[in-house]
Amino acid sequence: MKRLLVTGGTGQVGTELRLRAARHGFELVAPTRSELDLGSTCAIERFLDDHPWHAVINCAAYTAVDKAESEPDLAQAVNAVGPDIIARAAAKRAIRLLHVSTDYVFDGTKQDFYEESDPVAPLGAYGASKEAGERAVRQGNADHVILRTAWVVSPHGNNFVKTMLRLGGERPLLRVVDDQRGCPTSAGDIAEALLTIAGGHGHIGTYHFVNAGEASWCDLARFVLARAGIDTPVEAITTADYPTPARRPANSRLSTAKLQRDYGIVPRPWQDAVGEVVDALVKGGM
Ligand SMILES: NC(=O)c1ccc[n+]([C@@H]2O[C@H](COP(=O)([O-])OP(=O)(O)OC[C@H]3O[C@@H](n4cnc5c(N)ncnc54)[C@H](OP(=O)(O)O)[C@@H]3O)[C@@H](O)[C@H]2O)c1
Repeated sequence: MKRLLVTGGTGQVGTELRLRAARHGFELVAPTRSELDLGSTCAIERFLDDHPWHAVINCAAYTAVDKAESEPDLAQAVNAVGPDIIARAAAKRAIRLLHVSTDYVFDGTKQDFYEESDPVAPLGAYGASKEAGERAVRQGNADHVILRTAWVVSPHGNNFVKTMLRLGGERPLLRVVDDQRGCPTSAGDIAEALLTIAGGHGHIGTYHFVNAGEASWCDLARFVLARAGIDTPVEAITTADYPTPARRPANSRLSTAKLQRDYGIVPRPWQDAVGEVVDALVKGGM
């Protein structure tokens, strides 16, 4: 069986990879952060020397977008220095690297869906650290796929769907930003895409994967509550009404045409993917 080394195996995407790898014919090894810290060159080298790996999938990241504004060095260490170490260590051993990145590398001023070749211009410390990580991966290991995704939700960890379900049960009214548009995406579908790429025909470079369609955070909140049968009203507000430490792109919709062309991966509508996540959370008692 082909072995995959996965960092960030306790996160949303990492958890889904662990659940799905065997179905794709992979044996997955997912060390915890204490076993494999992204800041430790020695630990990374040691793991890479352990087995003949088919590929490494780097899902580990500092993902606290607002907190990153006050901890930019930590965000850089995990999201840029770590990937740099992994990329160079994998290249030395001729191991392919799949690296997960974000829509927040864009500034949101484009009127249309973002293509992979569009210029990056992150608005905040998190986006800047992820953009630096992308550059490190491109420079460190020619045999790479960078998969940018967005608005990740799943039954695990912290995410917008879980927050809305919780607040929808607690408050008489939710006020949610309606002037940021993106592509809600399930971690399970991202994991499927990564496993298809890992088993795929060798195209390298930067790709986008998100579920199909688009939404504002307010659209997403209304969908989640309706699906869960919670009738709390959701009031649409603007970004200006809800100030946060980090600026976020007004438009971070990603085009997935390149991934469809090179890997034959066709994302399903976000409503189907997010609907499954809501159903799992409601059935499981959240
Ligand atoms: N969440 C989103 O909405 C979103 C949007 C766009 C792109 N992305 C990207 O998608 C990828 C996966 O995101 P996610 O939502 O699955 O993340 P997540 O749930 O926040 O999980 C992050 C993972 O990284 C690990 N980690 C953090 N610092 C580490 C370190 N120093 N060394 C080793 N491991 C470390 C965490 O381990 P612990 O469990 O020990 O903390 C956890 O397993 C990331 O690259 C992220 O930037 C996410």
